[in-house]
Amino acid sequence: MLKINKFDRIVVANWKLNGSIEFIEQYLKELNCSKLENSSICGIICIPSVYLHDLAGKLNPLFLGGQDCSNYNKGAYTGEVSASMLKDSSCQFCIVGHSERRQIFGQSNKDICIKVMNLMAHNINPIICIGETYEEKSNNLTKDILYTQISKSIPENATQDSVIIAYEPIWAIGTGLTPSLEEIENIHFFIKNEIQNFENYKILYGGSVNSNNASEIMGLNNVDGVLVGGASLDALEYKKIMNS
Ligand code: 13P
Repeated sequence: MLKINKFDRIVVANWKLNGSIEFIEQYLKELNCSKLENSSICGIICIPSVYLHDLAGKLNPLFLGGQDCSNYNKGAYTGEVSASMLKDSSCQFCIVGHSERRQIFGQSNKDICIKVMNLMAHNINPIICIGETYEEKSNNLTKDILYTQISKSIPENATQDSVIIAYEPIWAIGTGLTPSLEEIENIHFFIKNEIQNFENYKILYGGSVNSNNASEIMGLNNVDGVLVGGASLDALEYKKIMNS
């Protein structure tokens, strides 16, 4: 498994349910990986699993990631993709617990904890998403929700070197809204300093990140990078965010 702590900054692209062979060809051209500096920035592109083979070996110095993995390792689970299959497909990272998987597909903290363990057992670094709804925020429940998500979805054998946490307020995803810089800094401070054992974890911010706001967000204390949805579908925009 890759040692995450050697990187200063992590910039994750989450394509969600987007992409095609044609899109991938164009994306690779625009990304022009051979010209990307092999530096302290860890760029990770998380794509639909059927296309992993089309990007395998073509992203260096960036890394390839999945968007979810099965709770199960093998057997009669039609439609599932296991951690070992992701590993076979050159995945080094995998998003788990994205709010879209939690809300639309009913995944619980317990499911996510199992997925994280499966990924770690196959030497894939999990990127664990947490975040509150607007209603929870309005009711001042953000910290309670995050505490529960963290304590229930991160297994005891997780380490700062293996697991990345991504704070994505659900109301900020795809809406163009973001918390204030102060709010982001406060939440990241809370995760690192007020929940025990997480002070040296890498914590990313996600939700309506683009090349206009990436630099100030990544400049905040305790923010170690960003998780980007919509804006990452444009390779040039993704590169700009990496270099912000
Ligand atoms: P947007 O960047 O489109 O708001 O999506 C964020 C996200 O869900 C990344 O995982």
